[in-house]
Amino acid sequence: MSTIRYLGHAGFVVEHRGTRILMDPWFFPAFLGSWFPYPDNRFLLDDVVSGEFDYLYVSHAHEDHYDEELLRKLDRSTKVIVAKYRSKVMVRHFRDLGFENVTALAHRESLELGPGLTATMLLDTSHKEDSGLLLDLDGFRFLDLNDCNTPMSELPGDIDLLAAQFSGAMWYPNCYDYPPAVMAEKVAGVRADLMDTLYRKVKLTGAKAYLPSAGPACFLDPELTQYNDRDATIFPVWEQVAEGFAQACPETDVVRLGPGDYLDVGNGIAVHAGGPLEEDLDAYRERRRDEWAEFHAGPEPEVSLREIEQYFHTLQTWNKRFLGDFSKDIRLVAGTADWDVRLGRLAEHFVIEGEEPYDPEYTLLVSPRVLRAIVDGRTGWEEALLSMRIGLHREPDVFDLTFMGLLRYGNHPAQTMQMLRERQNTETIERDGLRLQRFCPHAGEDLTFAEISGGRIECPRHHWIWDARTGECVDKASLPLRVEVLDEQALRKTENASGSE
Ligand code: FES
Repeated sequence: MSTIRYLGHAGFVVEHRGTRILMDPWFFPAFLGSWFPYPDNRFLLDDVVSGEFDYLYVSHAHEDHYDEELLRKLDRSTKVIVAKYRSKVMVRHFRDLGFENVTALAHRESLELGPGLTATMLLDTSHKEDSGLLLDLDGFRFLDLNDCNTPMSELPGDIDLLAAQFSGAMWYPNCYDYPPAVMAEKVAGVRADLMDTLYRKVKLTGAKAYLPSAGPACFLDPELTQYNDRDATIFPVWEQVAEGFAQACPETDVVRLGPGDYLDVGNGIAVHAGGPLEEDLDAYRERRRDEWAEFHAGPEPEVSLREIEQYFHTLQTWNKRFLGDFSKDIRLVAGTADWDVRLGRLAEHFVIEGEEPYDPEYTLLVSPRVLRAIVDGRTGWEEALLSMRIGLHREPDVFDLTFMGLLRYGNHPAQTMQMLRERQNTETIERDGLRLQRFCPHAGEDLTFAEISGGRIECPRHHWIWDARTGECVDKASLPLRVEVLDEQALRKTENASGSE
């Protein structure tokens, strides 16, 4: 018999025949003091800090998984398992923290952790550095995908228990300044896409049971309280989506756990539940006042023109090949200061002074504290955006992969180089009378599983949609897909078929 204990969010302790593995433990605020575990799981902290673990697995570098404050409290002789990312960022982090035994596993690589216990690493094989772990416990297969999107064609089958995200973990669309009706429509779209992706994961893995996990978090800083609205954001709680799940995946049992609950697994699953499933946010906010208030401590910092210039100069130098002939005018607004920045390798001056005002394609409203942290290298844009402490406006309202790639991954050029390789990948597949590029130009999903109907091709991951004949992107972004019509009759058949399921 084995036990799987839930720590809240994406955290677990798995024990099998005396081997114990701690997975993604998260307790302290993430992303500039904005995210907190929901429900509060601090009552488990002492157990985790004083617990003896043979292995520690941390899926990726986002702070709701890689909780440095917690990791500093753990026994450094614990063996660490991480994914073998191109950037090597996880190995570096753990070595810097003093962990001596760090094993980086490649995609699909397995490691025997103890008698009857094998771990297999699963990566998001695109430029995104996320991972999941498959644990085989004497034949009981527990797949922890947290918020990792391993390509659908690479997901393992015959899964007994799947733990995966159902709620959002992204700044889009809630940080944009859309009018209320547009925002409501976009939020509904993202929520539907998240559930559709989950249903596909459940079906492809053949999961007998599903454990809702990896979110939502909550926001205790009063400045961010609007993001706790479970109806108006992409951060729903399970009860809001449970009925849709039951209809879409009627053969999969749902195992709903609160922090501290556990499962006995082996011949089936015995549930020991009773831990908290919700939280009084006002009381929680008071208990953690010192932690969220830390972000606001001290006088508002200043950032100079020279620092902004230097920052973007360095960022662009690191990413010259990725940027190619890209150019984009953006505006940064921080407190009472603002800067117009021309991004692009060909731009000689990164900050434009003394020109006539113009309409930037992207405006980022950043608090000076956030900008200070970015310019000092204490945080990256990815983390700053995830903090929800940035307001965004774009004109036209179209996703720009190069711009967001530069901001999000520019400080890890190994990731932007991978984006470049993905762009240049020429592998194709043939289906429904078409030859089309195999991997999605957005984040590399395998389009073998794309929905092709009604004259449209829809990526199963983030649901970008292209015209099947021209490859023109008709929804969500502007990047085209390489398509070629091979068999007119076969294509017509899909055109006459109804839209996506
Ligand atoms: S991977 Fe994001 S839309 Fe295809």
